[in-house]
Amino acid sequence: MNLKMNSLLRCACTAVTICLGLPLSHLSAAAPPAKVKPLSSYDPQVKALLAKMTLEEKVGQMTQPDISALQDPTDIENLFLGSLLSGGNADPKEGNSLDAWTNMYDEYQKHTQKTRLGIPILYGVDALHGHNNVLGAVIFPHNIGLGCTRNAALVEKIGKITAEEVRATGIQWAFAPCVTVPQDIRWGRSYEGFSSDPAIVKVLGEAAVRGLQLNDLSNPLAVLACAKHYLADGGTSFGTGTGGKNTLDQGNSEIDEATLRQVHLQGYLTTIKAGVGTIMPSYSSWNGLKMSANKYLMTDVLKKELGFEGFVISDYNAIDQIGKDYKENVGITINAGMDMVMIAGRHREFVKDLLALVKEGKVPMSRIDDAVTRILRVKFAMGLMDKDRSQLADRKLQSSFGSPAHRAVAREAVRESLVVLKNGNQALPISKQAARIHVAGKSADNLGNQCGGWTIDWQGKTGEVTPGGTTILASIKSAVSKGTKVTFSADGTGAEGATLGVVVVGEKPYAEGFGDRTNLALDQEDINAIANVKQAGIPVVVVLLSGRPLILGDALNQADAFVAAWLPGTEGQGVTDVLFGDFKPVGKLSFAWPKSMDQVPVRTGDTKTDVLFPLGYGLKF
Ligand code: GLC
Repeated sequence: MNLKMNSLLRCACTAVTICLGLPLSHLSAAAPPAKVKPLSSYDPQVKALLAKMTLEEKVGQMTQPDISALQDPTDIENLFLGSLLSGGNADPKEGNSLDAWTNMYDEYQKHTQKTRLGIPILYGVDALHGHNNVLGAVIFPHNIGLGCTRNAALVEKIGKITAEEVRATGIQWAFAPCVTVPQDIRWGRSYEGFSSDPAIVKVLGEAAVRGLQLNDLSNPLAVLACAKHYLADGGTSFGTGTGGKNTLDQGNSEIDEATLRQVHLQGYLTTIKAGVGTIMPSYSSWNGLKMSANKYLMTDVLKKELGFEGFVISDYNAIDQIGKDYKENVGITINAGMDMVMIAGRHREFVKDLLALVKEGKVPMSRIDDAVTRILRVKFAMGLMDKDRSQLADRKLQSSFGSPAHRAVAREAVRESLVVLKNGNQALPISKQAARIHVAGKSADNLGNQCGGWTIDWQGKTGEVTPGGTTILASIKSAVSKGTKVTFSADGTGAEGATLGVVVVGEKPYAEGFGDRTNLALDQEDINAIANVKQAGIPVVVVLLSGRPLILGDALNQADAFVAAWLPGTEGQGVTDVLFGDFKPVGKLSFAWPKSMDQVPVRTGDTKTDVLFPLGYGLKF
């Protein structure tokens, strides 16, 4: 092929990707991925340690209590515990400050020094969009927004910063990334997914792991990542959820194996390639069998077929859902391939039951040794067994915690995540010299709504949720010229006479099944706020803060411009960078946007042509 033809072909390809709205270059990791040292390369050291361990010490390594239920911290040395976690609301007694978290971590870690072998604990938290349990941490956009950036390098950078802020508290394990592929946006965890398209999830999930683990678990700035929730957590059938008839969460994925692999397995293929150290099975079931009990998927597929060398950590009390008898549940899940069990409230019972099951020959010692081998591989890889390395928090890292440099990256992510759905009458960009801008909507001055769930509280909380962030109203005030007047009313009244109105609406925070909904319409308060500003006879720019596409109805017609900002986190200025034209919008939908509820769900591969906006849609201006 001559040069001319070649360049023509290249131009043609570029044109095609732009019009498809899927700049494929973005979706591949920037540089060829770094080679990661296989966890099995630590087996010589692991075998030597394993040979010294008693059965009690081995079972202790497989036990992960939630600190909220750890009444007596001496359980750490008495039961040889291998790990602890802070579940959604399991916070330090002294509150959620950086120091309170760091002091708590150090206190727990010190207990392990009293054990015969001194094996340090791994401490896990849900650092899903920054170190989101800790006041003052940078809160990044939730994954649904990052999916709209299609920017793997940016997602990796976010992982790196998250790891640094997590390490500033001493903690070494983040239960992230979620590589779910949500198929029904009525699910409350849709926003934890990058996309309903596995092609996007696989690339960004890999990038997140490389960012968190730095391609080198021995790096003191790396944290252990956790790909979750294995498998098809986002593929459950409506009405099968554990929350009752109208739910999806923790339900049953009724799909064939081909679909399971093509749609839901992709993120695990790439995160295993990236060296992810842990994988978390889902509460949900596949064709009626709970994932925590699925030996075929946890052992035959994950460990044998895919060669996963790290360890499998259960979800929070997830093994309770296997059956009615707890001891039987313990035996089933461990024999199916679970290596460590996350427990709130009955860790002593778990230890007693598992010891008994081994002594009764119902759980073979070979299974225990395999589980502990996997756990110790990770601990050796992370330098936890290096006697000359402190396992307490490196408090020097606290100088960059919540820093302007970290916030600048979060602001960049917000900018790139915004998707412009409509821009009639060239309402965007807004002039910084406008005489008066009237701001409205329940979420305009509400950091909690901006951050969404998993922020300080498990469910998040509306209002002033954490210090250091910037609301969209504050961002507008700081963006405009000195001569511009900015007024505000949550309900949209009083907009008469303004140059234009900006109305910020959407969802209040939620997490997991509490976010399952049967109807995704805008709430009346939002519809009224938009209508009140419209009634003032001025241009209306609507900004939607939501964990998923919502049914917009007439609100879209009433708006001159409409922007999906997802759950952007603390850096509201990323939104105004786009609104005022300081940054050209690049965001592309990572989910299809249905016109009405009868179009929901739009599953991967559905070719419903009359959706409101297709996956990949996004306007430029
Ligand atoms: C939760 C979630 C899981 C989380 C774990 C620990 O219920 O399902 O994503 O990592 O428990 O908080």
